Amino acid sequence: MLKTPDTTLLRTVAEERAALNVIGGKMVGAKSGARIEVACPSDGRVFASIPRGETADIDAAVASARHAFEVGPWSRMTATERGRVLTRLSGLVEQHADELAALESRDTGKPARQGVADVTAAIRYYEYYGAAADKAHGSQIPFLEGYTAITTREPHGVVAGIIPWNYPLQILARVAGAALAMGNTLVVKPAEDASLTTVRIAELALEAGCPPGVFNVVTGYGAEAGAALSGHPGVDYVTFTGSPGTGTAIQQAAAGNNRGVTMELGGKSPQIVFADADLDAALPVVVNAIIQNGGQTCSAGSRVLVEKPIHEEFTAELARRFEALVAEPHDRDGDLGPLINTRQAERVAAMIAEAEAAGFPVLAKGSVADDAPQGGHYQAPVLFGAVDPLSALGQEEVFGPVLAAFSFEGEEEAVRLANGTEYGLVAGVWTRDGGRQHRVAKRIRAGQVYVNAYGAGGGIELPFGGFGRSGHGREKGFEALMDMSATKTTVFNHG
Ligand code: NAI
Ligand code: MG
Repeated sequence: MLKTPDTTLLRTVAEERAALNVIGGKMVGAKSGARIEVACPSDGRVFASIPRGETADIDAAVASARHAFEVGPWSRMTATERGRVLTRLSGLVEQHADELAALESRDTGKPARQGVADVTAAIRYYEYYGAAADKAHGSQIPFLEGYTAITTREPHGVVAGIIPWNYPLQILARVAGAALAMGNTLVVKPAEDASLTTVRIAELALEAGCPPGVFNVVTGYGAEAGAALSGHPGVDYVTFTGSPGTGTAIQQAAAGNNRGVTMELGGKSPQIVFADADLDAALPVVVNAIIQNGGQTCSAGSRVLVEKPIHEEFTAELARRFEALVAEPHDRDGDLGPLINTRQAERVAAMIAEAEAAGFPVLAKGSVADDAPQGGHYQAPVLFGAVDPLSALGQEEVFGPVLAAFSFEGEEEAVRLANGTEYGLVAGVWTRDGGRQHRVAKRIRAGQVYVNAYGAGGGIELPFGGFGRSGHGREKGFEALMDMSATKTTVFNHG
């Protein structure tokens, strides 16, 4: 159950926080002593700082993770014992839920209730992977007479986790939960724009009984700490969530050492609304799927495809709802907060300007609260109609509160449009026709398809990942445990 956010805490909890890295169980600054200022996206004011980690700090963290993996005690603990550590971590995150939710909200600018939703998901991730740790096992394979062949699930070793700024608590939890359950050790590089809860979780992991060196965090810039980590020869596997371009750079770095990777690279996810759909059920979900977290969600429902007979009626109602949306500071807990930083706000504004210049009609625009602080990075939600599917707005991830509407006639065109981008992460299908639910869901190329529902970022238990430009590998659910381990086959000749 989601609790009501504590807005008093929101204003006080993160005052003047000077975060440290977590390396080998110790809280340390960057070796250079350099720090990065942390500003709140709601007002642009600096309220904290993080170490500016670089190669030397990554070297220390990887060495510590390697030692913890090879010498133990982590690698000698049973899966059940590792699971218990995660279960205790889940409990500690729950104990500190108010503080973590407030910190996440302030660091990212997300509305207070989204901070609560994120911490609730994190609690569940650590609970899920704590319980799953001793249930991911191998099998026995019928083989030649006189032989016994078995498979076991082996950890990769040192896993590097490069985390984005949009959902740090959740994305860290899905990475750390699965990686630690399988017996890997971790070096995490959170995003420079949102590192504070990651440092806090690594601290709580120590308290939960995670041996020193198992869960390391180095904060810093992508081009410095991130690049040093992804190309480090002491890393055995790299997992990344973020932009396709950075994904390519990280894969190239990992390829230098021939290491495996999991890549979750976002999407241009469609919601397909057929004329026979329950429109009252679809409308709030379609709006929320693009407004949640200000549209800064890899699985945002950023395209809505509406069948011709209801196109006018449905988009008119969508427009009415968009007009009413207000962007406000995180502690007001409004419809949406600010965007993460100036660069992102400029990027989103430029894509809106480009779509306007291309002549796509603006069907509705929400607003920014009159008294929103000047230093914040606010963007009013925008609904575009009659978007050219091949335009930038039809093809590219905006990562802001911008919804592109299209119309179609019949299933064939719906599927063609839905599959008509290089991405393939999530899709929503709205129809009451049971046969059509199955036909369309089957033909959509996406890692997750929702029928009469849409899960932007949800579903701890549900495997998640992309096709095409959305990336490869699967996170969440039991399947993530397979990505975070490799099969080892052992053959006994006993005559
Ligand atoms: P990004 O993909 O560059 O950053 C994500 C993470 O990668 C951060 O921790 C960053 O420090 C790290 N990183 C950056 N360059 C690196 C490098 N060369 N080597 C290793 N790590 C590196 O995303 P950015 O620039 O913050 O946002 C730009 C766009 O990326 C957004 O507009 C959005 O479209 C997309 N994005 C998608 C996300 C998703 O959940 N799919 C999350 C964040 C951004
Ligand atoms: Mg921040």
